[in-house]
Amino acid sequence: MIERTFSIIKPDATRRNLTGEINSVIEAAGFRIVAQKRIKITLEQAKTFYAVHSSRPFYGELCEFLSSDPVIVQILEKENAIEDYRTLMGATNPADAAEGTIRHRFALSVGQNSVHGSDAAETAASEIKFFFSDIEIIE
Ligand code: GTP
Ligand code: MG
Repeated sequence: MIERTFSIIKPDATRRNLTGEINSVIEAAGFRIVAQKRIKITLEQAKTFYAVHSSRPFYGELCEFLSSDPVIVQILEKENAIEDYRTLMGATNPADAAEGTIRHRFALSVGQNSVHGSDAAETAASEIKFFFSDIEIIE
């Protein structure tokens, strides 16, 4: 089934000018980038986006990081996109990420791990809706 997932290229990657390189990896893996924009997330938006982690000790650091510099938010389309993008990203901690994954190649640390990807169909739908309006998504 053709699916859509939501991705963020995080500030550690945009800071190092890695947007194009990461997009090349994404496209080479068979994803279509069907919507994309560069934005700066506010601290409040980051807190809402990562609300599921609000009780974790790293929540403050996580939200401050995500709002510290511009990010690329994007919608990726592919057969089995949600699971396949999680595989392409690699483990949360780059030290555990498999060779060839985005996090293995580019991430700096568990906090500064270069990309986000939705973890389920429901979160993909809600995260896409959080960042994109209907007219920004071309069928
Ligand atoms: P996302 O795609 O960004 O949601 O990553 P994930 O799904 O692989 O991991 P998870 O949702 O569990 O955690 C969200 C983010 O919190 C991760 O991407 C990390 O940047 C950060 N994080 C998770 N665990 C730790 C930790 O132990 N320490 C720190 N500093 N950050 C963490
Ligand atoms: Mg997650």
